Amino acid sequence: MTARPRKPVPLPEARWPTAAEAAGARLFTPVQLGPIQARERTWVPAMVPWRADEDGTVTAENLDWYGRFARGRPGVLVAEATGIRDIASGPLMRISHDRFLPGLETLVQRVRDESAGHTRFLIQIIDFLSVRRRPEPRTFFERYWQPGPEHRERLTAFTEDDRWLDAPDEVLRAWLAPAGIDAWSATLTERELRDLEYGYREGVNDTHLPHVEELPRVLPRLFADAADRARRAGFDGVELHFAHAYTMASFLSRTNMREDGYGGSREGRVRLALEVIEAVRERVGDGYCVGTRFLGDEVIEGGSRIDDAVWYAERFAGAGLDFLSVSKGGKFDDAKQPRVGHAVYPYTGPSGHECMPTVRIDEAGPFGRNVALAASIRAALRAAGHATPIVTAGGICTFEQAEAILARGAADIVGSARQALADPDWFRKVRLGRGDEVRRCVFTNYCEGLDQMHKQVTCKLWDKDFDATGTDVALSHDGRRRLLPPPWSPDTT
Ligand SMILES: Cc1cc2nc3c(=O)[nH]c(=O)nc-3n(C[C@H](O)[C@H](O)[C@H](O)COP(=O)(O)O)c2cc1C
Ligand code: SF4
Repeated sequence: MTARPRKPVPLPEARWPTAAEAAGARLFTPVQLGPIQARERTWVPAMVPWRADEDGTVTAENLDWYGRFARGRPGVLVAEATGIRDIASGPLMRISHDRFLPGLETLVQRVRDESAGHTRFLIQIIDFLSVRRRPEPRTFFERYWQPGPEHRERLTAFTEDDRWLDAPDEVLRAWLAPAGIDAWSATLTERELRDLEYGYREGVNDTHLPHVEELPRVLPRLFADAADRARRAGFDGVELHFAHAYTMASFLSRTNMREDGYGGSREGRVRLALEVIEAVRERVGDGYCVGTRFLGDEVIEGGSRIDDAVWYAERFAGAGLDFLSVSKGGKFDDAKQPRVGHAVYPYTGPSGHECMPTVRIDEAGPFGRNVALAASIRAALRAAGHATPIVTAGGICTFEQAEAILARGAADIVGSARQALADPDWFRKVRLGRGDEVRRCVFTNYCEGLDQMHKQVTCKLWDKDFDATGTDVALSHDGRRRLLPPPWSPDTT
């Protein structure tokens, strides 16, 4: 890995267009996403804001959040990764039951109103497996660990003391809990050591667990049900979340070793994704927009690379998806060890840094870092006769960057997540020839730090020159941060 430079890479200079120039720009031309048309090629990718109820219901804060993004009138706004399973998962939105429909309908209406019908509103739908917090060693050994004969033999070899062969379980647990890493490494299996050091985490290879074994039988219906709810709630389309650290991406990963026909070879790894797409399409029909977000590169040892992604993309396009959004990295495999009591977070290792790159990532910097992946996928699709639009994202924050990406045919649509978080009005400001008013993201990931702690996501720039004392502006739970970007109106001069 490249050493991190001491100094951050500077932001690209921005030369903003006049309103007349913007009016002739590719960025502001319409694009077809299967059955729907977006008015322009600007796109806000999914971002979890941690604003739903504990049971996943849409709150007033969700309405304000998405309404605020809609006011900037991007071509497409994608709602956060929304759970398709009816299980508690904290303040992330859920679409796992019809009881969530009223909230989601209100959300759709709010985006429609605030964007004056300009913005297409999609929802990203996700499945994820269980991840527990890193336990105290004592808790791990007392509650989660079951000693067996192999452990006893290994501990005997490590300590050169054969009393462990028939010592009671409680004695082993009590001795090991404070014993430290050398004794743990010598005694535990690789998997047990990972559970102790990082917290218990399920993966698609855990086919000894019945609910993991049955994923291929369960997920197509769950995705189809969720997509149908999205359609009934009025969303313009769905984005199937096949990216980052979650279930579907793990099926696509080269690390998927399942032997039930859903792993191993590329054909095996893509099989569930294709079955999900088929079930969704069958349920919502050809007249509904369905696309996916998937990885151009997992950026982990032994993981899928761009050649896999190109191969998958051809299958996805052949299966009739209406857009492909290309992301990168964001895996658990290389994530940093969490502190005790915290859960492992997939954006803390090298693959995570690629997913949400900062100005300190390396000398190349974060700006347009992932575009080459989208470009390879797009070129291969076009060569195979598929016109499926490709979305790219990653460090895109100026008009000139976006325009150049489109001009050279690297992608059809330009996504900007953090730049849109820093300033959701930036699209509109550029269109109006008022680019010099854009609040520019500095790509240091304060927002991502909040996401990691499951705190309400905000941008540090919103609070610049802002004093919360005595104000009636909506504040975060800690009372110190604005919950929404400062207001801006095209009427202000
Ligand atoms: C706070 C936060 C939450 C995010 N949540 C999601 C998510 O729910 N689904 C997803 O696919 N990507 C998510 N991302 C990744 C972004 O969509 C995007 O791919 C990434 O930030 C790189 O693009 P950017 O440089 O334009 O920010 C999130 C990013 C941030 C900063
Ligand atoms: S907190 Fe930092 S990285 Fe996140 S949107 Fe704001 S300026 Fe950009």
